[in-house]
Amino acid sequence: MAILLGIDLGTSGVKTILLDADSKQLLASCLVEYPLLTPRPGWTEQEPDTWWEATVASIQGALARSGADSSAIAGIGLSGQMHGSVFLDAAGRVIRPALLWNDQRTGDQCAQITRVAGEKLLHEEICNPILTGFQAPKIVWLRDEEPANFDRVRHVLLPKDYLRYRLTGEFATEVSDASGTALLNVPARDWSTKLLDKIGLPANWFPKVYESPVPSGSVTAAVAELTGLKAGTPVVGGAGDCAAGAVGTGIVRPGLLWASTGTSGVIFASADEPTTDPSLRTHTFCHAVPGKWHAMGVMLSAGGSLRWYRDALAGEEKHVAGLTGQDPYELITAAAAQAPLGCEGLIFAPYLTGERAPYPDPNARGAFLNLSLRHDKRHLARAVLEGVAMGLRDSVEIMRAGGVPINEVRASGGGARSPLWRQIQADVFGLPITTINIEEGPALGVTLLAGVGAGLWSSVEQACDAMIETATVTEPIAANVERYEQVYRELYTQAYPALRDGFARAAALVEKL
Ligand code: XUL
Repeated sequence: MAILLGIDLGTSGVKTILLDADSKQLLASCLVEYPLLTPRPGWTEQEPDTWWEATVASIQGALARSGADSSAIAGIGLSGQMHGSVFLDAAGRVIRPALLWNDQRTGDQCAQITRVAGEKLLHEEICNPILTGFQAPKIVWLRDEEPANFDRVRHVLLPKDYLRYRLTGEFATEVSDASGTALLNVPARDWSTKLLDKIGLPANWFPKVYESPVPSGSVTAAVAELTGLKAGTPVVGGAGDCAAGAVGTGIVRPGLLWASTGTSGVIFASADEPTTDPSLRTHTFCHAVPGKWHAMGVMLSAGGSLRWYRDALAGEEKHVAGLTGQDPYELITAAAAQAPLGCEGLIFAPYLTGERAPYPDPNARGAFLNLSLRHDKRHLARAVLEGVAMGLRDSVEIMRAGGVPINEVRASGGGARSPLWRQIQADVFGLPITTINIEEGPALGVTLLAGVGAGLWSSVEQACDAMIETATVTEPIAANVERYEQVYRELYTQAYPALRDGFARAAALVEKL
């Protein structure tokens, strides 16, 4: 029996899963949660040592639940929240809490790096804009704002790579997560020495970069003692949570697009070349498939918009669901199904927490437009589902324009669970929406990478073919596609440009109030 272990270091908790590669059965899963620290508005941080303690508990929990013999574990894969920065001193000690992917403090540093890098280098090597969430501006922020801490830095790691350091003693990363630092030469799949020189950061602070399925170290004797794992178990490169989730959903060949609706929404396509959007609205990162890349558009409030609707406007549904043991989302989508397609002109702009693609605007905010006396909560709920689908379509459009082949969209997360939301997406994209047999996302993706590293499969594509099957297919309805096309072109895409200046004015005013 060959068992594979995957660890996904999320923003709210760390999950360990154990997969039996022979029977394709999930043997156990164990989630251990931890807090998000928000010391100031717009700042988000976590303690790397808290991650490690939770990871140890989650490995122990998964091993205990599975009853598996740890000597049967053929490999370990690591996934995690991308873009964060863990600062370590010469002795490998954590200097300060890590800054996370959703931290917004580095606006000035983004402008600084964009200026010194120049457009040519950003397009040719980094393939992405410098965004507040990315790692590079966080390091420059430390230099600008906490020079005493900056002087002690000798290593900078991404969140999941800190777990690797604790598990194996190795300073290492892999191409997919390293792409989200804005310091990687994405086409060359190694650090951009040009950008590091221009910003003035020492190249030896950054770990060795592996391909995702390649072993990068093995479990130390001390960690074996602590966790119950076997010393010497190989730990492969792994992947950032987006590329790992894509592998866990089988998005490893051109033609398939992934629409993931977690708190944020992700549109992800595998690509044979590092093709970059000329306006850098979508990201171009290395894929976890060796020698491949991926295009990705991230909207910040996808499932987050529906959760906001549930918490702010659906108190009654929550109450009834509590009494009947139903899921409040079922009641919300059942009501939404009673509203007509296009909600009689009502549009929801889903920018509750600012936006990334296609509008990188931290000031953007949500809006219901064209409300009339005829609208009730059923329309509001449907408008949220439609607005999120249209926000995702913005990224689909950028990819279409860039020549990305798209035959089918595979949905996961909240947008995959509701048949109504699947139909809305199929009709808004004009493409079939499929779901798959197993929803373990990033943790599953990295167990597959670990299996490739251990020689159980000859490639990531083969691992996905062995494990992943289509579960449901939702075909677009031609008449609906045509009507949504009009709503998208004539109403939805006009909303943000019309609102943008007002968002900026509101942000400035809120500062003063
Ligand atoms: C990806 C991104 C998020 C984080 C947190 O670009 O910002 O998916 O990785 O999960």
